[in-house]
Amino acid sequence: MPDILVDGKYELNGDVYIQGSKNSVLPILAASVLTYGVSVIENCPALSDVRASINILKYLGAKCSFEGNSLTIDSRNISDYKIPDNLMREMRSSSLFLGAILGRMGKAEISSPGGCELGPRPIDLHIKALSELGATVKHKGGNILLQSKNGLVGSEIHLAFPSVGATENILLASVLADGITVVTNAAKEPEIEDLADFLISAGANIEGAGSDKIVIKGVRKLFGTRHKVIPDRIVAATYISCVAATGGNINLINAVPNHIRSVISAFEEAGCEFKERDNILSVKANDRINSISTVRTLTYPAFPTDAGPQLISALSLSKGTTVFVENIFQNRFRYIDELKRFGANIKVEGKVAVVEGVESLSGTECECTDLRGGAALVVAALAANGTSKIRKTEHILRGYENIVRDLSGLGARIKYI
Ligand code: UD1
Repeated sequence: MPDILVDGKYELNGDVYIQGSKNSVLPILAASVLTYGVSVIENCPALSDVRASINILKYLGAKCSFEGNSLTIDSRNISDYKIPDNLMREMRSSSLFLGAILGRMGKAEISSPGGCELGPRPIDLHIKALSELGATVKHKGGNILLQSKNGLVGSEIHLAFPSVGATENILLASVLADGITVVTNAAKEPEIEDLADFLISAGANIEGAGSDKIVIKGVRKLFGTRHKVIPDRIVAATYISCVAATGGNINLINAVPNHIRSVISAFEEAGCEFKERDNILSVKANDRINSISTVRTLTYPAFPTDAGPQLISALSLSKGTTVFVENIFQNRFRYIDELKRFGANIKVEGKVAVVEGVESLSGTECECTDLRGGAALVVAALAANGTSKIRKTEHILRGYENIVRDLSGLGARIKYI
């Protein structure tokens, strides 16, 4: 993978188009397994995680063609129920295929997803919910086999925690189940609503997606459809962090401000100015930003864990000290050691990071530890004096279609080498 080279300290100005959402498109691609027809997914971001999903779809028997940002999936001949270990490992979110394959084939087998860069990634809530819909669960070596010999049956499912992935797996498994499923304490993220919209347009009967209670009435069949993926709120939050760190005035084209209210308020408190008109969100940042009151990551609509690293990176240049509490993932702070190479002053204790703003950062060589941690390094490099080299950029490609193109378009001196 090429490294990214950044010559820092240039203001960002101009327009940037916000790509389709990674966390929406991945469950939607899994959902296409449930349809008996051809679907077209528009505004599909060209990401390595999307390519990994396409590889899984092809393995299962689908035909896929990806042109521009339009992905066509023909799911008529899906015939396999097992995802081999090598394809599972290509992507963290492959467990989303469980509910979809189970719904279509009556059985599904995957290898255990295990851990990831952010800590253990259990799927106990997914498995419990799918068994409540009537699936039997067997552990075979490192694999999990789910089976529903007599078909899945609608049920009342209360999630102990509003897990995004578990809510998605329940939607996927229940749309073709017999009878009514009611999910309480469901995740409310905009990506859940987008998945439900895709399923509804394919013929599913779902009410309440986006709230904490979702009601799904099983239907007999889903059909091919056309769906446009929502804009990526985390990419929007990333570019806001970039301009907050460098100063300037940028327009996020195709952003949805309502999806990032908590992020906008944090940066407003830090001194950035926002303007909203139609689908354009403008962000203006002057001098060094200010520290802000304690930020706590939580489920939507609270501050998203995926935008934390980029905010912390911008705050490392703020006037004052900010306390940041990470409540969702255990190992989310690994990138902070890399931020310290730039001269950032951040102390971590357990799930709390204390960011003491410094007057300037210095360019350095650093390594991405994970996707959003990698984005945080880009934020720091853009604002640092001198040149920075960022390695292990494959992490960034999982979630950003072309961060170098986007930031160059805004006037950053950034390139792949
Ligand atoms: C999704 C997003 C990810 C985001 C996260 C939280 C996708 C593809 N990924 O991940 O970018 O950071 O939401 O907004 O959409 N948990 C369990 N048992 C389970 C499931 C989850 O203990 O069965 C725990 C997790 O370890 C984590 C927390 O619940 O601590 C949140 O996980 P969840 O909401 O499920 O996140 P993901 O769907 O994995």
